[in-house]
Amino acid sequence: MTLATADLEYLRRARRGEFDWGWLRNSRSEWGVKAVPSKVGLRLQDIMIGTYGVVPDHAPQRTMAPRGADIDPDVPDMGYTINDKAEVWSDNLLGLYEEAVSRQWSATRDIPWSELPELDPDIEHAMCQLSTVLSEVEMVASDFPAKWLWRINHDFVEAKMFLCTQVMDEARHTEVFRKRALANGGGLGKSKAVVERFLKLILDAETYDEGSALMHLLGEGIVLSLFRAGELLAPSPVEKKIFRLCMQDEARHVAYGTMHLRYRLERDPSLAEDYHSYLDKGEEIIGMLFTTPEVVEPTAMLAAGSVKAAEELGMAAADVLRARVIEEYLERCDHALLPRRARLTLPPELLVGVRGVEGKVA
Ligand SMILES: [Fe+2]
Ligand SMILES: [Fe+2]
Repeated sequence: MTLATADLEYLRRARRGEFDWGWLRNSRSEWGVKAVPSKVGLRLQDIMIGTYGVVPDHAPQRTMAPRGADIDPDVPDMGYTINDKAEVWSDNLLGLYEEAVSRQWSATRDIPWSELPELDPDIEHAMCQLSTVLSEVEMVASDFPAKWLWRINHDFVEAKMFLCTQVMDEARHTEVFRKRALANGGGLGKSKAVVERFLKLILDAETYDEGSALMHLLGEGIVLSLFRAGELLAPSPVEKKIFRLCMQDEARHVAYGTMHLRYRLERDPSLAEDYHSYLDKGEEIIGMLFTTPEVVEPTAMLAAGSVKAAEELGMAAADVLRARVIEEYLERCDHALLPRRARLTLPPELLVGVRGVEGKVA
Protein backbone atom coordinates (compact mmCIF):
# COMPACT_ATOMS: atom_id res chain seq x y z
CA MET A 1 0.00 0.00 0.00
CA THR A 2 1.40 3.42 -0.92
CA LEU A 3 0.60 6.24 1.43
CA ALA A 4 -1.32 9.15 -0.07
CA THR A 5 0.54 12.43 0.00
CA ALA A 6 -0.84 15.55 1.67
CA ASP A 7 -3.24 17.46 -0.58
CA LEU A 8 -1.62 20.88 -0.56
CA GLU A 9 -3.95 22.14 -3.26
CA TYR A 10 -6.86 21.55 -0.85
CA LEU A 11 -4.98 23.47 1.82
CA ARG A 12 -4.60 26.46 -0.51
CA ARG A 13 -8.30 26.40 -1.42
CA ALA A 14 -9.34 26.06 2.23
CA ARG A 15 -7.20 29.06 3.12
CA ARG A 16 -9.33 31.05 0.69
CA GLY A 17 -12.45 29.76 2.43
CA GLU A 18 -13.25 27.28 -0.36
CA PHE A 19 -13.99 24.30 1.82
CA ASP A 20 -14.97 20.88 0.53
CA TRP A 21 -18.10 20.34 2.72
CA GLY A 22 -18.61 16.88 1.22
CA TRP A 23 -18.79 15.29 4.68
CA LEU A 24 -21.43 17.87 5.66
CA ARG A 25 -23.66 17.83 2.58
CA ASN A 26 -23.26 14.42 1.01
CA SER A 27 -23.61 12.15 4.04
CA ARG A 28 -25.36 8.85 3.31
CA SER A 29 -25.27 7.53 6.86
CA GLU A 30 -28.57 7.68 8.70
CA TRP A 31 -29.59 11.19 9.82
CA GLY A 32 -32.23 11.98 12.43
CA VAL A 33 -31.80 8.79 14.42
CA LYS A 34 -31.80 9.84 18.05
CA ALA A 35 -31.11 7.50 20.92
CA VAL A 36 -33.14 7.81 24.11
CA PRO A 37 -31.22 7.12 27.33
CA SER A 38 -32.63 4.54 29.72
CA LYS A 39 -33.09 5.23 33.44
CA VAL A 40 -29.48 4.24 34.13
CA GLY A 41 -27.99 6.19 31.25
CA LEU A 42 -27.25 5.70 27.58
CA ARG A 43 -26.59 1.99 27.20
CA LEU A 44 -25.36 0.06 24.16
CA GLN A 45 -28.88 -1.36 23.87
CA ASP A 46 -30.21 2.22 23.56
CA ILE A 47 -28.06 2.99 20.51
CA MET A 48 -29.01 -0.14 18.56
CA ILE A 49 -31.40 2.00 16.54
CA GLY A 50 -32.12 2.50 12.86
CA THR A 51 -29.61 0.89 10.57
CA TYR A 52 -26.95 1.36 13.27
CA GLY A 53 -28.57 -1.45 15.16
CA VAL A 54 -28.35 -3.87 12.25
CA VAL A 55 -25.40 -6.20 12.68
CA PRO A 56 -24.72 -8.01 9.40
CA ASP A 57 -24.53 -11.81 9.44
CA HIS A 58 -21.51 -11.47 7.18
CA ALA A 59 -19.41 -8.30 7.32
CA PRO A 60 -19.28 -6.82 3.82
CA GLN A 61 -15.88 -5.17 4.34
CA ARG A 62 -12.83 -5.64 6.50
CA THR A 63 -12.37 -2.15 7.86
CA MET A 64 -12.28 -0.41 11.21
CA ALA A 65 -14.99 1.99 10.06
CA PRO A 66 -17.70 2.36 12.70
CA ARG A 67 -20.72 0.26 11.68
CA GLY A 68 -23.19 2.56 9.89
CA ALA A 69 -20.66 5.24 8.87
CA ASP A 70 -20.04 6.33 5.28
CA ILE A 71 -16.93 4.51 4.15
CA ASP A 72 -14.35 5.73 1.66
CA PRO A 73 -14.10 3.32 -1.25
CA ASP A 74 -10.33 2.98 -0.92
CA VAL A 75 -10.07 2.06 2.78
CA PRO A 76 -7.34 -0.50 3.46
CA ASP A 77 -8.20 -4.14 4.12
CA MET A 78 -7.54 -4.91 7.81
CA GLY A 79 -7.24 -8.61 7.15
CA TYR A 80 -9.85 -9.75 9.68
CA THR A 81 -10.37 -13.51 9.66
CA ILE A 82 -13.59 -13.55 11.71
CA ASN A 83 -16.16 -11.99 9.41
CA ASP A 84 -19.31 -13.92 10.31
CA LYS A 85 -21.45 -12.66 13.17
CA ALA A 86 -22.23 -16.16 14.45
CA GLU A 87 -18.54 -16.78 15.12
CA VAL A 88 -18.48 -14.31 18.03
CA TRP A 89 -22.00 -13.06 18.73
CA SER A 90 -24.37 -13.85 21.57
CA ASP A 91 -27.80 -12.43 22.36
CA ASN A 92 -26.75 -11.28 25.84
CA LEU A 93 -23.63 -9.44 24.70
CA LEU A 94 -24.78 -5.83 25.08
CA GLY A 95 -26.14 -6.29 28.60
CA LEU A 96 -23.02 -8.18 29.66
CA TYR A 97 -20.80 -5.37 28.41
CA GLU A 98 -22.81 -2.76 30.30
CA GLU A 99 -22.71 -4.88 33.46
CA ALA A 100 -18.97 -5.41 33.11
CA VAL A 101 -18.28 -1.70 32.82
CA SER A 102 -20.49 -0.78 35.75
CA ARG A 103 -19.18 -3.50 38.08
CA GLN A 104 -15.43 -3.05 37.81
CA TRP A 105 -13.73 -3.31 41.17
CA SER A 106 -10.26 -2.78 42.54
CA ALA A 107 -8.13 -5.56 43.97
CA THR A 108 -6.18 -2.84 45.73
CA ARG A 109 -9.00 -0.96 47.44
CA ASP A 110 -12.04 -3.24 47.57
CA ILE A 111 -10.45 -6.15 49.44
CA PRO A 112 -9.93 -5.50 53.18
CA TRP A 113 -6.36 -6.82 53.11
CA SER A 114 -5.52 -5.43 56.55
CA GLU A 115 -8.24 -7.63 58.05
CA LEU A 116 -6.63 -10.91 56.97
CA PRO A 117 -6.42 -12.99 60.16
CA GLU A 118 -3.40 -15.09 60.99
CA LEU A 119 -4.39 -18.59 59.88
CA ASP A 120 -3.30 -22.06 60.86
CA PRO A 121 -0.14 -22.60 58.73
CA ASP A 122 -1.65 -25.59 56.88
CA ILE A 123 -4.76 -23.60 55.99
CA GLU A 124 -2.62 -20.65 54.92
CA HIS A 125 -0.59 -23.00 52.77
CA ALA A 126 -3.74 -24.46 51.20
CA MET A 127 -5.12 -21.00 50.44
CA CYS A 128 -1.78 -20.01 48.91
CA GLN A 129 -1.61 -23.15 46.75
CA LEU A 130 -5.15 -22.52 45.51
CA SER A 131 -4.24 -18.87 44.87
CA THR A 132 -1.20 -20.01 42.90
CA VAL A 133 -3.29 -22.21 40.62
CA LEU A 134 -5.92 -19.50 40.20
CA SER A 135 -3.40 -16.75 39.51
CA GLU A 136 -1.89 -19.09 36.90
CA VAL A 137 -5.11 -20.04 35.10
CA GLU A 138 -6.86 -16.66 35.20
CA MET A 139 -4.47 -14.93 32.82
CA VAL A 140 -5.18 -17.29 29.92
CA ALA A 141 -8.66 -15.82 29.87
CA SER A 142 -6.98 -12.47 29.10
CA ASP A 143 -4.48 -13.94 26.65
CA PHE A 144 -7.02 -15.90 24.61
CA PRO A 145 -9.44 -13.04 23.84
CA ALA A 146 -6.47 -10.70 23.30
CA LYS A 147 -5.02 -13.15 20.78
CA TRP A 148 -8.26 -13.18 18.77
CA LEU A 149 -9.48 -9.61 19.22
CA TRP A 150 -7.65 -8.06 16.27
CA ARG A 151 -8.95 -10.79 13.95
CA ILE A 152 -12.59 -9.99 14.67
CA ASN A 153 -14.33 -7.75 12.15
CA HIS A 154 -15.13 -4.29 13.44
CA ASP A 155 -18.79 -4.73 12.45
CA PHE A 156 -19.03 -6.90 15.56
CA VAL A 157 -17.53 -4.19 17.73
CA GLU A 158 -19.81 -4.94 20.69
CA ALA A 159 -18.33 -8.45 20.87
CA LYS A 160 -14.84 -6.97 20.77
CA MET A 161 -15.73 -4.49 23.50
CA PHE A 162 -17.08 -7.26 25.71
CA LEU A 163 -13.92 -9.30 25.21
CA CYS A 164 -11.92 -6.23 26.23
CA THR A 165 -13.80 -6.18 29.53
CA GLN A 166 -12.92 -9.82 29.97
CA VAL A 167 -9.24 -9.07 29.38
CA MET A 168 -9.37 -6.50 32.18
CA ASP A 169 -11.44 -8.72 34.50
CA GLU A 170 -8.93 -11.53 34.20
CA ALA A 171 -5.98 -9.24 34.77
CA ARG A 172 -7.68 -8.30 38.04
CA HIS A 173 -8.29 -11.96 38.94
CA THR A 174 -4.64 -12.77 38.32
CA GLU A 175 -3.77 -9.76 40.46
CA VAL A 176 -6.08 -10.55 43.36
CA PHE A 177 -4.90 -14.15 43.75
CA ARG A 178 -1.25 -13.16 43.41
CA LYS A 179 -1.86 -10.56 46.09
CA ARG A 180 -3.63 -13.11 48.31
CA ALA A 181 -0.69 -15.49 48.06
CA LEU A 182 1.69 -12.76 49.16
CA ALA A 183 -0.53 -10.92 51.66
CA ASN A 184 -0.43 -13.30 54.62
CA GLY A 185 3.04 -14.81 54.65
CA GLY A 186 2.39 -18.02 52.71
CA GLY A 187 3.72 -17.03 49.31
CA LEU A 188 3.28 -18.81 46.01
CA GLY A 189 3.00 -22.58 45.81
CA LYS A 190 3.52 -25.04 42.99
CA SER A 191 2.76 -24.69 39.29
CA LYS A 192 1.90 -28.02 37.66
CA ALA A 193 2.58 -29.12 34.10
CA VAL A 194 -0.93 -30.53 33.72
CA VAL A 195 -2.42 -27.10 34.46
CA GLU A 196 -0.12 -25.52 31.90
CA ARG A 197 -1.13 -28.17 29.34
CA PHE A 198 -4.77 -27.14 29.66
CA LEU A 199 -3.85 -23.47 29.26
CA LYS A 200 -1.79 -24.31 26.17
CA LEU A 201 -4.72 -26.17 24.67
CA ILE A 202 -6.76 -22.95 24.91
CA LEU A 203 -4.00 -20.67 23.71
CA ASP A 204 -3.06 -22.91 20.77
CA ALA A 205 -6.68 -23.49 19.65
CA GLU A 206 -6.80 -23.27 15.87
CA THR A 207 -10.14 -21.47 15.82
CA TYR A 208 -12.04 -19.09 18.07
CA ASP A 209 -14.77 -21.76 18.19
CA GLU A 210 -12.40 -24.27 19.71
CA GLY A 211 -10.73 -21.91 22.17
CA SER A 212 -14.00 -20.36 23.28
CA ALA A 213 -15.57 -23.75 23.99
CA LEU A 214 -12.53 -24.87 25.96
CA MET A 215 -12.20 -21.62 27.85
CA HIS A 216 -15.56 -19.86 28.22
CA LEU A 217 -17.60 -23.01 28.64
CA LEU A 218 -15.32 -25.61 30.19
CA GLY A 219 -12.41 -23.88 31.93
CA GLU A 220 -14.14 -20.76 33.19
CA GLY A 221 -17.24 -22.79 33.99
CA ILE A 222 -15.18 -24.86 36.40
CA VAL A 223 -13.60 -21.76 37.92
CA LEU A 224 -17.05 -20.18 38.29
CA SER A 225 -18.33 -23.24 40.16
CA LEU A 226 -15.27 -23.05 42.39
CA PHE A 227 -15.90 -19.36 43.15
CA ARG A 228 -19.52 -20.22 43.86
CA ALA A 229 -18.27 -22.62 46.50
CA GLY A 230 -16.26 -19.74 48.00
CA GLU A 231 -18.46 -19.55 51.10
CA LEU A 232 -17.44 -23.11 51.85
CA LEU A 233 -13.76 -22.71 50.95
CA ALA A 234 -12.88 -19.25 52.29
CA PRO A 235 -10.95 -19.39 55.57
CA SER A 236 -11.91 -15.77 56.43
CA PRO A 237 -14.28 -13.00 55.30
CA VAL A 238 -11.43 -11.55 53.23
CA GLU A 239 -11.28 -14.57 50.92
CA LYS A 240 -15.07 -14.69 50.88
CA LYS A 241 -15.09 -11.22 49.41
CA ILE A 242 -12.40 -12.13 46.87
CA PHE A 243 -14.38 -15.16 45.70
CA ARG A 244 -17.64 -13.22 45.59
CA LEU A 245 -16.25 -10.37 43.49
CA CYS A 246 -14.45 -12.75 41.11
CA MET A 247 -17.63 -14.83 40.81
CA GLN A 248 -19.58 -11.81 39.50
CA ASP A 249 -17.05 -11.29 36.72
CA GLU A 250 -16.72 -14.99 35.94
CA ALA A 251 -20.47 -15.39 35.64
CA ARG A 252 -20.44 -12.87 32.79
CA HIS A 253 -17.69 -14.67 30.90
CA VAL A 254 -19.44 -18.01 31.22
CA ALA A 255 -22.81 -16.45 30.31
CA TYR A 256 -21.24 -15.08 27.15
CA GLY A 257 -19.58 -18.41 26.28
CA THR A 258 -22.75 -20.41 26.86
CA MET A 259 -25.01 -18.07 24.92
CA HIS A 260 -22.44 -17.63 22.17
CA LEU A 261 -22.27 -21.36 21.60
CA ARG A 262 -26.04 -21.51 21.58
CA TYR A 263 -26.18 -18.70 19.01
CA ARG A 264 -23.58 -20.49 16.89
CA LEU A 265 -25.30 -23.89 17.01
CA GLU A 266 -28.78 -22.47 16.41
CA ARG A 267 -27.51 -21.13 13.11
CA ASP A 268 -25.36 -24.10 12.16
CA PRO A 269 -26.23 -27.30 14.04
CA SER A 270 -23.77 -29.22 11.86
CA LEU A 271 -20.94 -27.72 13.97
CA ALA A 272 -22.01 -29.73 17.03
CA GLU A 273 -19.67 -32.61 16.27
CA ASP A 274 -16.68 -30.26 16.01
CA TYR A 275 -17.56 -28.77 19.39
CA HIS A 276 -17.95 -32.23 20.90
CA SER A 277 -14.47 -33.13 19.76
CA TYR A 278 -13.00 -29.94 21.30
CA LEU A 279 -14.64 -30.76 24.61
CA ASP A 280 -13.57 -34.42 24.40
CA LYS A 281 -9.98 -33.17 24.40
CA GLY A 282 -10.61 -30.59 27.11
CA GLU A 283 -12.35 -33.03 29.45
CA GLU A 284 -9.42 -35.41 29.17
CA ILE A 285 -7.14 -32.82 30.74
CA ILE A 286 -9.80 -31.73 33.22
CA GLY A 287 -9.93 -35.38 34.35
CA MET A 288 -6.19 -35.16 35.01
CA LEU A 289 -6.68 -31.94 36.97
CA PHE A 290 -9.25 -33.66 39.16
CA THR A 291 -6.57 -36.16 40.15
CA THR A 292 -3.71 -33.69 40.71
CA PRO A 293 -2.87 -33.31 44.43
CA GLU A 294 -1.90 -29.63 44.12
CA VAL A 295 -5.36 -28.91 42.72
CA VAL A 296 -7.53 -31.34 44.70
CA GLU A 297 -5.98 -31.24 48.16
CA PRO A 298 -6.01 -27.50 48.93
CA THR A 299 -9.73 -27.35 48.14
CA ALA A 300 -10.43 -30.56 50.08
CA MET A 301 -8.57 -29.13 53.07
CA LEU A 302 -10.16 -25.68 52.89
CA ALA A 303 -13.59 -27.31 52.71
CA ALA A 304 -12.82 -29.63 55.65
CA GLY A 305 -11.03 -27.01 57.76
CA SER A 306 -7.81 -28.87 58.63
CA VAL A 307 -5.47 -31.64 57.48
CA LYS A 308 -6.94 -33.99 60.11
CA ALA A 309 -10.54 -33.26 59.14
CA ALA A 310 -9.63 -33.64 55.48
CA GLU A 311 -8.01 -37.01 56.13
CA GLU A 312 -11.08 -38.16 58.07
CA LEU A 313 -13.38 -37.04 55.27
CA GLY A 314 -11.07 -38.43 52.61
CA MET A 315 -12.35 -37.43 49.21
CA ALA A 316 -15.89 -36.81 50.46
CA ALA A 317 -15.67 -33.01 50.32
CA ALA A 318 -13.75 -33.08 47.04
CA ASP A 319 -16.30 -35.51 45.57
CA VAL A 320 -19.21 -33.23 46.50
CA LEU A 321 -17.45 -30.19 45.06
CA ARG A 322 -16.41 -32.00 41.86
CA ALA A 323 -19.92 -33.41 41.36
CA ARG A 324 -21.32 -29.89 41.63
CA VAL A 325 -18.72 -28.56 39.17
CA ILE A 326 -19.53 -31.29 36.63
CA GLU A 327 -23.30 -30.94 37.03
CA GLU A 328 -23.11 -27.19 36.44
CA TYR A 329 -20.92 -27.79 33.38
CA LEU A 330 -23.40 -30.31 31.98
CA GLU A 331 -26.29 -27.91 32.57
CA ARG A 332 -24.41 -25.22 30.66
CA CYS A 333 -23.78 -27.62 27.78
CA ASP A 334 -27.52 -28.41 27.69
CA HIS A 335 -28.30 -24.70 27.63
CA ALA A 336 -25.81 -24.17 24.81
CA LEU A 337 -27.63 -26.89 22.78
CA LEU A 338 -24.67 -29.25 23.09
CA PRO A 339 -25.84 -32.00 25.46
CA ARG A 340 -22.77 -33.81 26.80
CA ARG A 341 -24.27 -36.28 29.29
CA ALA A 342 -24.07 -39.25 26.95
CA ARG A 343 -20.76 -38.05 25.55
CA LEU A 344 -18.82 -37.19 28.72
CA THR A 345 -15.26 -38.52 28.52
CA LEU A 346 -14.41 -38.21 32.23
CA PRO A 347 -13.59 -41.56 33.90
CA PRO A 348 -16.56 -43.06 35.83
CA GLU A 349 -14.67 -42.76 39.15
CA LEU A 350 -14.77 -39.00 38.74
CA LEU A 351 -18.52 -38.98 38.19
CA VAL A 352 -19.48 -40.12 41.70
CA GLY A 353 -22.52 -38.15 42.82
CA VAL A 354 -23.10 -36.48 39.44
CA ARG A 355 -26.81 -36.53 38.64
CA GLY A 356 -27.93 -37.57 35.20
CA VAL A 357 -24.92 -39.70 34.30
CA GLU A 358 -25.61 -42.65 36.64
CA GLY A 359 -25.22 -45.15 33.84
CA LYS A 360 -21.61 -44.12 33.41
CA VAL A 361 -20.64 -44.38 37.08
CA ALA A 362 -18.73 -47.53 38.01
FE1 LIG B 1 -11.37 -15.11 35.89
FE1 LIG C 1 -13.28 -15.46 33.36
